[in-house]
Amino acid sequence: MGTITNQRKKVTIETLRRMHAKNEPITMITAHDFPSAHVADHAGMDLILVGDSLAMVALGMEDTSEVLLEEMILHCRSVSRATKSAFTVGDLPMGSYEISPEQAVESAIRVIKEGRVQSVKLEGGAEMTPTIERIARAGIPVLAHIGLTPQRQNSLGGFRVQGKTADGAMKLLEDALAVQQAGAFAVVLEAVPAGVAEDITNRLSIPTIGIGAGSGCSGQVLVQVDMSGNFPPGRFIPKFVKKYGDVWGESMKAIQAYRDEVKTRAYPAPEHTYPMPEVEMKTHNYRLGQVDRELERSMNMKDLTNSEFAALPQEQQVEFWSKYRVEIARRFREGSLKLYEDSTRY
Ligand code: KIV
Repeated sequence: MGTITNQRKKVTIETLRRMHAKNEPITMITAHDFPSAHVADHAGMDLILVGDSLAMVALGMEDTSEVLLEEMILHCRSVSRATKSAFTVGDLPMGSYEISPEQAVESAIRVIKEGRVQSVKLEGGAEMTPTIERIARAGIPVLAHIGLTPQRQNSLGGFRVQGKTADGAMKLLEDALAVQQAGAFAVVLEAVPAGVAEDITNRLSIPTIGIGAGSGCSGQVLVQVDMSGNFPPGRFIPKFVKKYGDVWGESMKAIQAYRDEVKTRAYPAPEHTYPMPEVEMKTHNYRLGQVDRELERSMNMKDLTNSEFAALPQEQQVEFWSKYRVEIARRFREGSLKLYEDSTRY
């Protein structure tokens, strides 16, 4: 199979605006490293998000509050190296933007300059408007994120659906309008009743990207590890996730088959090995034979043919090889092992 090339045109902010204007659904997925970004880009995703879900699904952390800006930047860099067409977004992790708009713009600049992504995402609604304005003024596109904001799970009382009451739904609309006003280019609506999300979508002039927010949003985002089934059976998966594949199951099958073939020596087969010209192999074997005979003599070993040796009980063969290795190592250390002395060639 030849190298797969990506023929798509680069997705820009302008492309996203045009898609939104035409009511064409916008596709977004997370990627946390080079291979996951590569496949997402080739599969035709419009946006690739290096989400701080990285903490839980790729780094094995308890929650997203643990991941550091430096860690996000490292993963953004690997994703951006693989992404040729999709528009890339890097999450600002907890602690990197809440203190002040100045802190936020500094972090955003690092994510762009060092992480090499094209925009940043941050969690929060109306209270984050000075921050969104400050980052946008620096020329960095900002994707807002409202509804269930996992970085604030402790104050939200866990991973809970947001906007389920009339007051909650109105607060969400206010947040969405506020982040739009502040200059966000789009807003993620997470775990919001479908009707509320659709209503917000209809009242905004920027796209909404839903996750657990129904089909009335301008686009959708899912965590790649979840939607591709790249997790062990039994792990908790939110209701809104549709599992489109079984990557974990496929990897399990492949790795088990590899283990079995190594144990039975079925792998590597001749086609997985590098050949050596016959004359070189013969010469090498001849010279090794000289060394072997000399070593065997000095170890007081009876001169055995290969087939005689193979007929010895397993324990005796193992014992011979362990003595032999010790002797070779000793002679090598002493400098008395003459591997290159015999210049005979076939
Ligand atoms: O971190 C993440 O992956 C996200 C998406 C779920 C939107 O924020």
